[in-house]
Amino acid sequence: MSKYQHKDRYYHKAKAQGLPSRASFKIEEMLKKFPLIKAGDTVIDLGAAPGGWSVLLSKALGPKGKVLAIDLENLGKLKRPNLIFFHGDICSDDAQQWLQDQIAAPQKVSAVFSDMAPKLSGITFKDAYDSYQLAMMSFQVAQQWLQPGGCLVCKIFPGAEFTEFHQTLKKHFAKVKVFEPQAKRKTSIEIYLLAMDFKAP
Ligand SMILES: C[S@@+](CC[C@H](N)C(=O)[O-])C[C@H]1O[C@@H](n2cnc3c(N)ncnc32)[C@H](O)[C@@H]1O
Repeated sequence: MSKYQHKDRYYHKAKAQGLPSRASFKIEEMLKKFPLIKAGDTVIDLGAAPGGWSVLLSKALGPKGKVLAIDLENLGKLKRPNLIFFHGDICSDDAQQWLQDQIAAPQKVSAVFSDMAPKLSGITFKDAYDSYQLAMMSFQVAQQWLQPGGCLVCKIFPGAEFTEFHQTLKKHFAKVKVFEPQAKRKTSIEIYLLAMDFKAP
């Protein structure tokens, strides 16, 4: 991708507002359009770095809410009183243990957000498959930690496995929307699945 494409108006807008990434505007759009969270909720933010979603979620949840953020990369200087960060792989036992320590069963969370993306190889079907695997991982986290009625917001690069993943979510959530934020890069194929009203297993 050229520098010109990379630094579009959302990049400059994020910089001007002191936000960690342009991704903040995607979650902003989703939070405006759909009743995903409310003040005081606890949510999980997968693929959180550099923190664009975490900041917006932290503000929306307020002092009584909590963002449990996880990423392979560090969050850098970002600090918020209601944001707790685990630096590591969501597929690792350590990350699972960390979630257990933070959530303290039988408590659950109101939402699982996943903006996780694989390292791109440039091979379309491989990138789509890797993205599907991360999406499945976020669904597994949701199955374990989401309270009935909760939601899962999940990024995926559409490929051969997309329909199957969409169908899986439809079985477990009352409503599933396919959403393409205005703020996504024009060159990106990513889409988001917004799965709402989790049915208790
Ligand atoms: C598009 S970026 C996320 C942007 C972020 N949501 C924001 O608002 O600034 C995708 C992130 O997914 C993370 N990621 C990919 N695989 C992961 C995994 N297995 N566990 C945790 N994070 C992962 C990457 O490290 C990367 O930071």
